[in-house]
Amino acid sequence: MLEICQFGAGRIGAIHAGNVAAHPGATLRYVVDVDRKAAEALAAKHGAQVVEADAALADPRIGAVIIASSTDTHADLIERSARAGKRVFCEKPVDLSMKRVDACVAAVRAAGVPVLIGFNRRFDPSFAALKRAIDDGRVGPVELVQITSRDPNPPPPAYVKVSGGLFRDMMIHDFDMARWLLGEEPVEVFASASCLVDPAIGAAGDVDTAAVTLRTASGRLAAITNSRRASYGYDQRIEVHGAKGCVSAGNRTETTVALADAGGVTGAKPLHFFLERYAEAYRAELAHFLEVAAGRAKPLTSIEDGRAALRLAEAAVESLAGRRAVAV
Ligand SMILES: NC(=O)c1ccc[n+]([C@@H]2O[C@H](COP(=O)([O-])OP(=O)(O)OC[C@H]3O[C@@H](n4cnc5c(N)ncnc54)[C@H](O)[C@@H]3O)[C@@H](O)[C@H]2O)c1
Repeated sequence: MLEICQFGAGRIGAIHAGNVAAHPGATLRYVVDVDRKAAEALAAKHGAQVVEADAALADPRIGAVIIASSTDTHADLIERSARAGKRVFCEKPVDLSMKRVDACVAAVRAAGVPVLIGFNRRFDPSFAALKRAIDDGRVGPVELVQITSRDPNPPPPAYVKVSGGLFRDMMIHDFDMARWLLGEEPVEVFASASCLVDPAIGAAGDVDTAAVTLRTASGRLAAITNSRRASYGYDQRIEVHGAKGCVSAGNRTETTVALADAGGVTGAKPLHFFLERYAEAYRAELAHFLEVAAGRAKPLTSIEDGRAALRLAEAAVESLAGRRAVAV
């Protein structure tokens, strides 16, 4: 039985704590949050205790930590947990600064503990099956990857200000997926972006609509498009085209009911947002983390993957500012 301490009792923290509590191989012993009320509510729900970070990390019964707190706490908590010998599952992104990520990667290597980064989309059953089709050679060598990711609603401007911007906060998931599906590292990034959804996002210094092209050394291409708005729900689709064929994964809808009449055929909307759309992915991610913690698997999404995705996000920021392609 792996005993876990979780940092962060917010939106994603509630999901991970619930998945730990439901897993027969793990127990949620501690919840740590600077918002004491949030920590107490989540701990009470799952029979855990609320403690300070130092006490949790000093407890030898704690074998692993889940870091689901705000982004600006990740690197520090990863380092402290790794130094304490705990296995780590940390939400994306590792940090917003490459220098800070590099220091964190070095600290993790020195500690020799496994770290899993929360790129949950790789654990989605449909996207995992799509990847297996590529690995099994069903589409031949990959030539084009197309990733569509649109949120149902824009976040509040207060969130935008501390998020690190669309490329580091939102598209970072798609950069990770693109690297994974291309099977080669991108060497060039070109970004174009606008503020079309909410002027307050522009006033906060960010964009809300973006198109990015990645190119690998052999010429494979990925096209990623993001929007902070989709009137019909959370739009998450991938298509991978290769020499022998094409494989795609579409949206998951609220129901499978389709109504056909003289006006055409209509169906249900995509599942509303990430908590619903990726519920299975979060469970599979946690199950994988328990395998990693037990030494039976290597992290599918490592801290080096976290670094590589941030590197592409930084290149996209640079490309947008300079209106030119940026070498990675
Ligand atoms: N992989 C995904 O699908 C996904 C989805 C949502 C959020 N995230 C990531 O998860 C993280 C949290 O996002 P959220 O939407 O749950 O945010 P949130 O604001 O709902 O929750 C964050 C929590 O962290 C707490 N916190 C802040 N500083 C802390 C500290 N030093 N120690 C302990 N707790 C602290 C806050 O009080 C808050 O309760 C972010 O880094 C975000 O990028 C990932």
